[in-house]
Amino acid sequence: VAALQPEQDLAGRRVVVTAGGTREPLDPVRFLGNRSSGKQGAAIAEAAALRGAEVTLIAANLETDAPSGCRVVPVSTAAELRDATLAEAAGADLVVMAAAVADYRPAAVSEQKIKKGAGDAGLSLELVRNPDILAELGRAPHEGTVLVGFAAETEADDDRLLELGREKRRAKGADFLVVNRVGWHEGFASDENLVIVIGPDDGIVTRAHGTKVSVAHRILDVVV
Ligand code: CTP
Ligand code: CA
Repeated sequence: VAALQPEQDLAGRRVVVTAGGTREPLDPVRFLGNRSSGKQGAAIAEAAALRGAEVTLIAANLETDAPSGCRVVPVSTAAELRDATLAEAAGADLVVMAAAVADYRPAAVSEQKIKKGAGDAGLSLELVRNPDILAELGRAPHEGTVLVGFAAETEADDDRLLELGREKRRAKGADFLVVNRVGWHEGFASDENLVIVIGPDDGIVTRAHGTKVSVAHRILDVVV
């Protein structure tokens, strides 16, 4: 029974979760994307809803079913994700930035499908930086809103991984930062995850390993 009806420790709270990976269009038929499935973010949204929160999930190209009990705002590009997140974050009790946001987008989007040049040997793309949404939230006044960021790192060394996470948390003004290692064979499509959560004073507040659903609850436990 406890598993079916967890403690309502987020009752009356408004929670915003971003999940999935953004897609930056090149032309009408192509985009630059990443391998985020959105499973960890969707699990956090569902877990928060089960714990009584009013949850908005800003969903970028999810490769998993949208969770029940949440309001879903579908987006695709980093710019759309930014607009939706800044609008929803105002007055929220908790914002969890689990989405993998493209750091760059094509400088220009072609209105027509890009054609190969006759006999050309390659193609160079010009990219421009996208705004950092989490850093924007962290910089703006946000009294009463807890900010949780994620860091996807391929760093193999544990100490260095933690150091990257700590630097990222401080740089973005997040209260908590969830560090997970990603790579060719770990992280994305999997139903399991292994994370370290860094807290406001740079200490490790929890480590969690298991299904993305159980990891979601562990993250919420420390944030609550
Ligand atoms: N993030 C964001 N806006 C961006 C890029 C990232 O809000 N334009 C957020 C992500 O949702 C995540 C956190 O910042 O919560 C860290 O993302 P990550 O890609 O690990 O870090 P970056 O700061 O982009 O650094 P880099 O990719 O260079 O390691
Ligand atoms: Ca990035």
